[in-house]
Amino acid sequence: MCLNEEIIISNASAADIDALHEIETLSFPEDKAASRKAFEYRLNSFPQWFFKAEYNGRIVGLIDGSPSDNEYITDDLYQVGGEFNVNGKNLLIFGLAVNPNYRHRGIAHRLMNHIIHTAKAQGKKRISFTCKESLIPFYESFGYENHGISKSVIGNTTNYNMEMYLNII
Ligand SMILES: CC(C)(COP(=O)(O)OP(=O)(O)OC[C@H]1O[C@@H](n2cnc3c(N)ncnc32)[C@H](O)[C@@H]1OP(=O)(O)O)[C@@H](O)C(=O)NCCC(=O)NCCS
Repeated sequence: MCLNEEIIISNASAADIDALHEIETLSFPEDKAASRKAFEYRLNSFPQWFFKAEYNGRIVGLIDGSPSDNEYITDDLYQVGGEFNVNGKNLLIFGLAVNPNYRHRGIAHRLMNHIIHTAKAQGKKRISFTCKESLIPFYESFGYENHGISKSVIGNTTNYNMEMYLNII
């Protein structure tokens, strides 16, 4: 068990792509993991929504999303060229992943709380993403609500729309 002080969350950059993509491929099956090109696209287009977790100087986790006016994620948005709006009122989260050797130390919680805090501070209205059924309780523990089955079929599985309202306008 490590102490939270040893975990640093900060913005990722293009220089981190190899380490970030390794975590992505270790964490998701091939048909769900984002491609390296998709990571490049996201880091070039809206880098302020890509965060890394470092443990003793090593990149061990990531969370990334897209500013958008859309309410829910659709599978086209995960791809290179996916639509986004840098001034969009909502945040769509693409992925949260932690290196298997560093799980159960609170790193995913730190990453998720960081992106929630940043979205609130930036005046985003709502956060939305999809997850598989087994992770619904994990995300409900942050305050997200399950809004039912998503149109997204990425990973060839049933995904659920999770959402949280941040700043009621
Ligand atoms: C899900 C994931 C990000 C959690 O990372 P983590 O750093 O281990 O999470 P934390 O240490 O902050 O929190 C752990 C707690 O979350 C819950 N949790 C974590 N993974 C879970 C899972 N697969 N199912 C149910 N609950 C889970 C448990 O309560 C766990 O407590 P424990 O450590 O006492 O077992 C990590 O397992 C992962 O990368 N998985 C593969 C990718 C993935 O599925 N990402 C989510 C996409 S929607």
